[in-house]
Amino acid sequence: MCGIVGYLGFSDSKKIILNGLKELEYRGYDSAGITILQDGKFHIFKSVGKLNNLIEKSRSLEINGFSVGIGHTRWATHGKPTEDNAHPHSGEFTHIVHNGIIENYGDLKTDLLYKGYKFSSQTDTEVIVHLFEEILDKHQFNDSDNGSFLAFRDTIGLLHGAYALLLIKRDEPERIYFAKEGSPLIIGTNFETGEQIFASSDSPLIGLVDSVIYLKDGEYGYVEQGLIKILNMSGVVIKPEYKTLPQNKELAQKSGFRYFMEKEIYEQSQVVSDTMLGRIGDKNITFDEISPDIFNGINEIKLCACGTSYHTALASSYLFERIARVRVSVEFGSEFRYKDPILHNDTLFVVISQSGETADTLASLKLAVSAGLKTLAICNVDNSSIVRTADYTILTRAGIEKGVASTKAFATQMVVLYMFSIYLAQIRNIISYSGVEEHLQILREIPNAMTINDRVHEKIKRLSKRYLHGHGFFFIGRDIFYPLALEGALKLKEISYLHSEGYPAGEMKHGPIALADPELFTIALLPKNMLYDKTKSNIEELGARDSTICVISSESVELADDFIEISAHHHYMLEFFEMTTVLQLLAMEIAIRLKNDVDMPRNLAKSVTVE
Ligand code: M6R
Repeated sequence: MCGIVGYLGFSDSKKIILNGLKELEYRGYDSAGITILQDGKFHIFKSVGKLNNLIEKSRSLEINGFSVGIGHTRWATHGKPTEDNAHPHSGEFTHIVHNGIIENYGDLKTDLLYKGYKFSSQTDTEVIVHLFEEILDKHQFNDSDNGSFLAFRDTIGLLHGAYALLLIKRDEPERIYFAKEGSPLIIGTNFETGEQIFASSDSPLIGLVDSVIYLKDGEYGYVEQGLIKILNMSGVVIKPEYKTLPQNKELAQKSGFRYFMEKEIYEQSQVVSDTMLGRIGDKNITFDEISPDIFNGINEIKLCACGTSYHTALASSYLFERIARVRVSVEFGSEFRYKDPILHNDTLFVVISQSGETADTLASLKLAVSAGLKTLAICNVDNSSIVRTADYTILTRAGIEKGVASTKAFATQMVVLYMFSIYLAQIRNIISYSGVEEHLQILREIPNAMTINDRVHEKIKRLSKRYLHGHGFFFIGRDIFYPLALEGALKLKEISYLHSEGYPAGEMKHGPIALADPELFTIALLPKNMLYDKTKSNIEELGARDSTICVISSESVELADDFIEISAHHHYMLEFFEMTTVLQLLAMEIAIRLKNDVDMPRNLAKSVTVE
């Protein structure tokens, strides 16, 4: 979590860093801070809460001429969200910003305290700055050596854990030191002006630079005006590998919607269509980025992910079994990595992630790689850590997703996984031509099923009023609609802070139904094309016990208190995609009525790069 930005050059460093932090605010917004070094003097501003507080606080600072600066937006891990714990952290003559976790900070801190260093925060990060100054002070580097650089190298050599970090030093006002291990860090260079800009992701760099370097784990070095020096952990100098930065910023704006989440819900029809482009042909599914031999020697698929991406994993497991007739298991990243799993190389290990940076998913992927499994990433961010680690990648084409509550990433992942299950059925020769054609037709209809119907949205707005108070919510569904129920419940709890749980509809009678009463709201997914009668009976069991029930279906149910009518579809997958939008809108409208910050819900961050 956390976002970092750094700047070196003759433009307004404060403005560039604050704008960059605004782009990264989705990564954490517990506190923010900047340090600008100009004319040999540090200008430091920190504030708790959203970035606007920092913008206000630093308003008086004017930048003229050359400066260097670093900034940070924080999602608290070690230490509460206070100003003292906000980055940048300072030593006597050094300032640092850090994204990640230093796992051995306790031992390092004990040692530094013993040596007399004073700490002003509870963070793991602060040890780095004192450690650097200690090493610099202690070692007698040769005159010909660049002492700070060697001290920086030795400092990061002592750190265990994950870090993307930037360091500036008072007596070297034209240099920024950097290091990356486990957390993302990008350097953008403006070749005309020699400016160097750092960021945790592409978006702060769009419009400022055309070429970027995606640093790899273990790389470190420094930049100056027009100069980049990168080394790896063996001390070998690395030739910078520039990539062209896509310049589409418009997608990252709200375009008239109240929230990014709302805009992203409405975009789904387009982005699922983009995700299918070039992949669904007249007669088959193709993925240029993989080849059919991906499944050579494979007998099982293991899907691994976190949060919403876990729900697409679970939902797609029904498709892999039903369509591709492949054995499949589903794992939470956070559980898998520590369970000492039994892994066979006849398993294709598939990770699913919007950000490509989720620490638990990445660690699970690395575990599978080290066990010699073939790996495939389904991811929304090219060049992310997960993409760079997996053998194969299929990119979803959701575009930048800003709402912390994931919506269009879910839809595009589902489309890729659905297509991939058909693809596997094709290469395993277990599906007929007409079977493929039927699925291709369904896929073509998904963008339409995801187009938001004004009537439905208006109805949800009205209904949301009824569902503000009560003990909580059950979301229920059967088959693939069970993982969708889990996702509906997650969306609601994330942004409304109301207690909600997803259940398989048939499981209610095994315990949860004991909670049923009028203050317990049930959101029931009742597809016409999947276990309709069975699910209807489960809903009626709840209605008979006075639960307040809202049915989402193309047909109303007598016992239901409320009914959100979706279109009549000929296949359950089309019902699945339309119901997805209904659940997202319902969560959003309830959260709006509760006056919550829909795009930046409390306690959450967009990209969970720590355990
Ligand atoms: O970037 P990822 O897909 O790997 O993220 C996984 C989860 O952190 C993410 O889906 C989270 O649950 C979202 N806030 C859900 O809306």
